[in-house]
Parts: sequence; structure tokens; C-alpha cells
Amino acid sequence: MKRKARRIFVCLIAGLLTSLDVVLAQQGDARVAQEAARVLQQRCLGCHNQPGAPQQRFLGSRAAMVQDGRVVPGRSEQSLLFQRMISGQRPMPPSGRLPESELSIIKRWIDAGAPDWRDAGPTQPLDYTKITLLGTLAGSASKGAYRVNAVAFSPDGATLLSGEADGIKLWDVPTARLKLHHRTPDGKWEALSVAFSSDNLLFAGSGTDASGAPWAGVWDARTGRLVRVIPVKSVVHSVSFLPNSDTLALTTQNDRAKPLIMLSSATEERYLDGLKDAARAVSCSPGGSLLAGASQSGTVTLWELRSDKEPRVLSLPGADLKDGVHAVAFSPDGKLLASGGGDGVVRLWDTERGEVKTKFTVERPAPVRAVAFSPDGTVVAGGSEDKVLLWDVKTGEVKRTITAGVKVKALAFSPNGRLLAIGGDSDDGKGVVVWGFK
Ligand code: HEC
Repeated sequence: MKRKARRIFVCLIAGLLTSLDVVLAQQGDARVAQEAARVLQQRCLGCHNQPGAPQQRFLGSRAAMVQDGRVVPGRSEQSLLFQRMISGQRPMPPSGRLPESELSIIKRWIDAGAPDWRDAGPTQPLDYTKITLLGTLAGSASKGAYRVNAVAFSPDGATLLSGEADGIKLWDVPTARLKLHHRTPDGKWEALSVAFSSDNLLFAGSGTDASGAPWAGVWDARTGRLVRVIPVKSVVHSVSFLPNSDTLALTTQNDRAKPLIMLSSATEERYLDGLKDAARAVSCSPGGSLLAGASQSGTVTLWELRSDKEPRVLSLPGADLKDGVHAVAFSPDGKLLASGGGDGVVRLWDTERGEVKTKFTVERPAPVRAVAFSPDGTVVAGGSEDKVLLWDVKTGEVKRTITAGVKVKALAFSPNGRLLAIGGDSDDGKGVVVWGFK
């Protein structure tokens, strides 16, 4: 029996390895962009991402490199970035020329037009009806009740982060290998939420320790080192980085148990007021202008981060609000906000007008605990009980219903849209479930 179980496990992992590899190999531009991102991350960002030297951070973002002309898309020989890598006199890195294989990755990437690794999507639109189970990442060895509370991909698609019953895990996406596992020796350090910064350099998490005390922190994604402990006074259920910044938004409370959103950066802590009651979820829009907080009583608060305007409180007229809102997610263009309701309804809000534009209802009424937009913005996924539904944003048609094998609590699309990671509660130690689109 035991041997059989092990064999199944090995098959699953092997299956996951080949399928993920195949998926990645099919990606052309996306692949070279991700390889280039990895070379820059491993070879350059150690110096070009020193705290206190933000001008040195240019290598973290393709947009910044192109904007200031260090990368000329299509012309590696004219790109300062590549010139310095092959320069005899002033090579980058200063310790000497990189192996030819890595130089050729950067050259190929620039000559291919320097596709962005963040949104390097497939050239053909994906067919969201065609989805297959790729495999399950190892959860708990004990095969008992287990929880995956949160999942997030790094913006370059190279890493998957999961917040689990026994801590935070970082997975290498192409190989499905566990790269890092942060936990306490007793394994009682539970991660409830996780997030990646938009430059791939930091990740954050929150949760509870063995005594049930809340914790929240920020880590360096390359070294796995803890770089910031965030002093929180209540359990943080959700975290979200503001784009192009090290500022993390967290759901928390002040000394007098007043619910607030904390904005924590390396240099300051600020608070946003305007929540009706305890927030369960927080999310920043991809452009960084809006922040949404979802509450237990069913309201969604929207802050405009670049203005002093009072936040807007979106309410749900006529809805059964007993179980509030569990999850929120912005569409890639920031024009829509999806909310997952305790009433089994996914609502798409027009973020400008603050009105519900469309509603999608799950088949059996049960709370929708996770929502996510596909990176092309055409599909919204909602997780309720053991099902994940994929709705067409325009037509409302259900493209696909997935039986997840866990009680779904977390959903994340990979940045190129080809993978869907699902986290949830299971009876048999299941970790993150990964599905792949054609
Ligand atoms: C050991 C630290 C270190 C590493 C590693 C490093 N750099 Fe640099 N880099 C510097 C310093 C210091 C400067 C500024 C002085 C200079 O131009 O030589 C610089 C300057 C540059 C410049 C010129 C910036 C400008 O606009 O003037 C480019 C381009 C550059 N680096 C690219 C890279 C690339 C690409 C890599 C990785 C393959 C890399 N660097 C790795 C330290 C480093």
C-alpha cells in the first residue's frame, strides 16, 4: 500500500515536471524573456538593486530599461546593457564576462524585441475550455488534513509562492522543485497570505505562529533572507504589494481593534481608514492607482492612492450579506474589480462608476472564497467549495468547471496565462494543484 502510494506520488511529480516543461517550451518569446529575466536576476541585481540606490534598480523592469534607452528592442549591439556585458574594458558584471550561453540569452532576448517577462503572453489567445490537470505540488507528508491558504506567481512567471499550514514555500516553476521552505521547527507556523513584488525581488507573507500570534514579513526572493518584520497587532488575512514599490498593503487593526489597511515600506508605515469592518482581502490595481479592501460585512472600499479623495464604499444592494465578501481581484486594465461573495456570487464592478456591471452565480450556493482574472482579462475564475468556475467576462458563459480536489481558498494564473494554481483545504495532505491551458 505504502509503495503504491509512493509510486503514485512519483508519477504525479514526474507528470508535473514534463507537463510544465512542455508548456514552458511552447512559449517562444515568453521563454526567452523569462530566461533573460533569470540571468539579470542572478547576475546583475545583486548590485543593481541595492537599497537606497533606486536609480540602480533599472534592471528590475523591462519598461525602465527600454524607456531610458539602455535596451533598444531588436538591436542588441546598440543596447548599453549588452554592450557592457561584452565590453573588454568595463565589463558587466565587473568580475568578468559571463558564459557565452548567458550572453546569448540576453542577445536573443533583445533581438527578439525585448519581450516583457511580466506579460509575455502567448501570441494566440488561449482557449480556456482546454485545460488539463498537470499535477499537485507536495503538501504535507502526513497525508492528514492540510491547508494551502494562498498562492501567487512571481511577475516573471519563474516562481510560485504558496502559503501553507506549515509555512511559506517557493517553487521553481519550470522544474516544479521546492526551492525554499520557511517554517518553524514545530511546523506550527501557518501562512495565510502571500504576495510578490512587481520587480520579482521581494515576497511577503502573513500568518500565525505556534501560539496563534500574528506575524507578517518581507523576504528577499533571491536569497530567501528576511528583510523586514512588520509589526502587526492582529492576524493579517491578506497582503498585496503596490506595483513598482516595496510598499506592502496589509489588512490589520490598530490598538483599539479598529480595522485599517496598513501600508508598510522599508521607511514608513501609513494607515488607510475607511473600512466598514474587519477586512478579509486587500488588492492593489495593476497600475497602482486603486486599492480595494473587502470586508466581512459585505462592503468593498476603494481608495484612490494618488489623491486625497475620501475612499468610496461600494455596497451590494439587495444581496444576502450574511457572509460578506471573501476575495477581490482587479482586471489587468484596472477597469473591473471582481469580488467573491459569501452569497455564492462573483460580482464584476466598474471601478470608475462604482457599480456592479455583471454577476456570475455558482451552481450550488456556497461562498466564493477566491477570485482571479486571467492575464488577458477575458476570463474570471471563482473558487467555491471544491469547484473552480471559469466565466467569460463578456458573455458570462461558463467556459469550464474544474473539480479541484480541495476546498478552494486561493487561485492564481501564471503571468502568461498558461497555468492556474489552486490552493485549498484537503483531507489528504494535498498541496498546490496546478492546471494548464492549451
Ligand atoms: C558587483 C556589482 C555589479 C554587478 C554584479 C553588475 N553591475 Fe552593472 N554596474 C555596477 C556599478 C558600480 C556601475 C556604475 C559604474 C560603471 O558604469 O561601471 C554599473 C553600471 C552598469 C551599467 C551602466 C549604467 C548606466 O546607465 O550608466 C550597465 C548597463 C550595467 N551596469 C549593467 C549590468 C548588467 C547587465 C549586469 C549583469 C550581467 C551588471 N551590470 C552586474 C555594478 C555591478
